[in-house]
Amino acid sequence: MVMLLFLVLLKLIPANCLDFVQGRIVGGYTPSPNSIKYIVSLQSSKGQHFCGGSLVHKYWVLTAAHCNIGMDQMMVVAGDYTLGAYEGTEQYSKPLSLFPHPQYNRSTNNADIMLIKLSAPVELNRYVSLAPLPKQNAGLLAGRMCRVSGWGSTSHSGGLTPLTLRTVKLPIVSNSKCNGSSSFSGNITANMICAGSSMGGKDACKGDSGGPLVCDGRVYGLVSWGNGCGDPRFPGVYTAVSRFRSYSDQIEQNKMASHSQMGGSSASCLHPARFCSRVTVSAARSWKGYECAW
Ligand SMILES: *[C@@H]1O[C@H](CO)[C@@H](O)[C@H](O)[C@H]1NC(C)=O
Ligand SMILES: *[C@@H]1O[C@H](CO)[C@@H](O)[C@H](O)[C@H]1NC(C)=O
Ligand SMILES: *[C@@H]1O[C@H](CO)[C@@H](O)[C@H](O)[C@H]1NC(C)=O
Repeated sequence: MVMLLFLVLLKLIPANCLDFVQGRIVGGYTPSPNSIKYIVSLQSSKGQHFCGGSLVHKYWVLTAAHCNIGMDQMMVVAGDYTLGAYEGTEQYSKPLSLFPHPQYNRSTNNADIMLIKLSAPVELNRYVSLAPLPKQNAGLLAGRMCRVSGWGSTSHSGGLTPLTLRTVKLPIVSNSKCNGSSSFSGNITANMICAGSSMGGKDACKGDSGGPLVCDGRVYGLVSWGNGCGDPRFPGVYTAVSRFRSYSDQIEQNKMASHSQMGGSSASCLHPARFCSRVTVSAARSWKGYECAW
């Protein structure tokens, strides 16, 4: 059954980029409306979704550093379900400051984590809640089932089509397997965790970047990068949030004010050449380069 699903998915994977980018969460399903209350959509000034994130405090969102398009161009939307349709549950907040991790390395994807301080607090209600984080350095055993959720983007022409949140359950893959020669061959750092089905077909994909991988009710991972989507040899690679728990706490307590205010400066392409192909390596899973590539 799973194999069949995978074959069906393979058949659906098209050669052209537009269809590919609409793949979103691979192998998953639509959760009931507003049941995943901690997820936020990061949207460009044109209202286009480009990354996911998690609400960790009424003033703070956790996402991936490669989702940093500069805060002037960014809107955080909580309580969303179908993009491009007003459902009455959405709350919009502009960033006040961005805190990409100072050690974030865009060539290795190491330390791919960023905190966003919101200019106005989000109201917690039936549709919006906070995501608990793991303790510093808390580990996960291989095989532990987790859930990743996210929205893809719209068409490359920038038009909005309603897109509903999707989610998929998949197991943690050990770092040794993920870092091995039949997989990412040494490109996995201790600040990353991997998750994916051994049969493939279940994965995060572009547009899911920054979004939450939740295990035991806590955000253990942030969608970071991968090689294609749903390939059994290449699980999805996530930022290991537990390695940054103390860092996040420090930022939130404003003890590291010197890294603030990244606004406006960094709307560059990360991997523009890599966005329309399923065979290239290490494509960061956001829309940023995708927009640039067109
Ligand atoms: C990123 O990592 C590579 C490989 O370890 C290293 O050569 C490079 O200097 C790093 N870049 C930054 C900005 O730290
Ligand atoms: C590992 O990273 C190197 C350097 O970025 C890259 O050339 C290589 O293709 C990567 N391999 C895999 C399997 O990710
Ligand atoms: C992955 O392999 C590389 C190269 O052998 C190594 O430097 C790195 O520490 C490994 N990562 C982990 C998480 O063990």
